[in-house]
Amino acid sequence: MGTALVVAVAALHAVGAKQIHTFAGPWDVWLERADTCYEDDERLPLKFSHYNPNKKFVPQTWSGLVNISRAVDDSWWVKAPLSIRSNNQWKENAFVFVWPTKGCTSARDITPPCLKQFFTKAGAPCLLKQQVIQFRNTTMKLEFPKVPHLVYGHYRLELSAGPKNEKSEYCVNAIVHIIPKV
Ligand SMILES: *[C@@H]1O[C@H](CO)[C@@H](O)[C@H](O)[C@H]1NC(C)=O
Ligand SMILES: *[C@@H]1O[C@H](CO)[C@@H](O)[C@H](O)[C@H]1NC(C)=O
Repeated sequence: MGTALVVAVAALHAVGAKQIHTFAGPWDVWLERADTCYEDDERLPLKFSHYNPNKKFVPQTWSGLVNISRAVDDSWWVKAPLSIRSNNQWKENAFVFVWPTKGCTSARDITPPCLKQFFTKAGAPCLLKQQVIQFRNTTMKLEFPKVPHLVYGHYRLELSAGPKNEKSEYCVNAIVHIIPKV
C-alpha cells in the first residue's frame, strides 16, 4: 500500500498546475457501471441498481456475475489509474495505484467486508480462487475501513491485473462516484 500511496500523492502534485478543486474526507462510493476493457471479454456481465441521491444511506444492489476464470495469487501485479472528471473532461492519472507484486494480498486488504469471503482468510497465503461469483439483486454495502479519506469526485477507474511477467489477464473500466459520507 505504501508505494501506491506515494505514487498517488506524486500524481496529485503533478496535476496541481491546473488546480482541480478537490476536497477529501470521509467517503461513500456509488457505482455507475463496470465493463471489461475488451468487447469480446464476457467475464463481467454485472449491473448496479440505480443510485438515488435522496436515499444516500441505501446501498446499491448488484446483479449478474464476476467470472474469475484464472486464480489470482501474490505473484500478480495490479494497476489502478484513476481519471477524475473536471470541466467536462477526464483528467488522466489523477491518482495512480500500482502494486508491482502481492496483488492478491493488496486486493484482500482493501476489499470491502462483503467481498472478503471470496479470498482465502487473512493469515493464509492469499488466493482469489477460480470461481464464478453470482449476484442476484444482492445488497452490497461497500465499506473500506483501511481507506478513511478520499478526494470526492466522479472517477474512471481502469483496473488491470496479471501474473508476474505477463500482460493483463483482467482489465476492467469502472465509473465510480466518491461522495461525502452521510
Ligand atoms: C468464465 O470464463 C471462462 C473463460 O473465458 C469460460 O470458459 C466460462 O464459460 C465462463 N463461465 C461463465 C459462467 O460465464
Ligand atoms: C432488489 O432489492 C431491493 C431491495 O433489496 C428491492 O427493493 C427491489 O424490488 C429488488 N428488485 C428486484 C428486481 O428484485
